[in-house]
Amino acid sequence: MKATTVTVDRAASTTYTDRRGQIQNYFDRTAVAAWATLTSDAPVGRIRTTVRAGRDAMRAKLLSWLPEDLHGRRILDAGCGTGALAVEAARRGAQVVAIDLSPTLVNLARDRLPTDLRGTVDFRSGDMLDVGLGRFDHVVAMDSVIHYGTEDAVNALSKLAERTSSSILFTYAPRTPLLAAMISVGRLLPRGDRAPWLEPMAKEKILKLMAVDICLQHWQAERTERVSSGFYKSQALELIKR
Ligand SMILES: C[S@@+](CC[C@H](N)C(=O)[O-])C[C@H]1O[C@@H](n2cnc3c(N)ncnc32)[C@H](O)[C@@H]1O
Repeated sequence: MKATTVTVDRAASTTYTDRRGQIQNYFDRTAVAAWATLTSDAPVGRIRTTVRAGRDAMRAKLLSWLPEDLHGRRILDAGCGTGALAVEAARRGAQVVAIDLSPTLVNLARDRLPTDLRGTVDFRSGDMLDVGLGRFDHVVAMDSVIHYGTEDAVNALSKLAERTSSSILFTYAPRTPLLAAMISVGRLLPRGDRAPWLEPMAKEKILKLMAVDICLQHWQAERTERVSSGFYKSQALELIKR
């Protein structure tokens, strides 16, 4: 089945737009097969096994920060990839909109949706900031703002906050010496072989930018937790509307 295409109707910064193009190219072309395998239960190598374990742990953590009963709640899976989080949220009763830049991954996510959940997840291909997606109780952005700079990531959170009533859960690459070293090794690889840059972020900078953002002024950072499993290092942060 073909993915529905939607567009963003607000001005996006040049860096956000450029980066978004690279990310879409990477997830829709370069890495689509690897990503399909990583997010399945097919055997993978030693390093990817640790990444898969870390990602499973992160998904479970984010889902544990949502109410147990999600009936009557509208959730945005922002940058849904192959849709694992959307499936779990729908299983708990949520009405989910799952959107990703990659039409190929969205089609795969749609194919992977268990038949008993048909109709509970609205899969879209496009930008998570599309205002046409409507309003949500909760937004979850697992590892989908990790390739943007901190300013662009906070801008994205701000736009999402305008249409969210309860919480936004997102992850970022924590700024640590080890991650910086891993990234600079990655930068030495030939261009075609590597993912778009990970942009490590510092919580202090995220909070500073949030404090001066008009749409995020009534939002507060609450729980935070790091998952570190081999090459997978990601920090979850919960934003709650006061
Ligand atoms: C590392 S993958 C994570 C996918 C999924 N959240 C998961 O954890 O399995 C990041 C995904 O975010 C998507 N993404 C990045 N920026 C996006 C945007 N502005 N709108 C929609 N999707 C986006 C990418 O296409 C990619 O599929």
